Amino acid sequence: MNIKALTPLLFMLPINLMAAALLPGDATNGEKLHNDNSCLSCHAQMTGGKPDMLYTRAARRVTNIGGLIGQVGVCNKMQKVGLDEDAVNDVVKYLNESFYKFSD
Ligand code: HEC
Repeated sequence: MNIKALTPLLFMLPINLMAAALLPGDATNGEKLHNDNSCLSCHAQMTGGKPDMLYTRAARRVTNIGGLIGQVGVCNKMQKVGLDEDAVNDVVKYLNESFYKFSD
């Protein structure tokens, strides 16, 4: 692989690193969306009424901001929650600020 082939990858790197700081969305609205839709109730059922522990347990699945964005997208789609793109951004921002606290 020559350097020209690598150039697009190098461009993607800083965007990824700054993703958490530059997350679009509104965390306050995200909290409301998360709690009013089935995110909270389904996770509460799974955890015996302690939905937050899903995000804070040692063996949590999500380990970086890209993973968080991906998992919110997967749950939203697979569980047919029906949030639009802006709403997903708000929820990601809320979960990161309140629980995951990824800085990059
Ligand atoms: C019908 C059930 C259901 C609904 C609704 C649901 N989820 Fe989930 N969620 C799951 C399951 C199952 C997992 C995987 C748990 C595991 O691996 O132990 C999960 C995991 C997650 C995780 C990863 C937790 C970790 O381990 O780090 C996040 C983040 C998440 N969900 C966000 C959401 C959001 C945001 C919504 C609403 C838009 C949502 N989920 C709606 C069932 C649901």
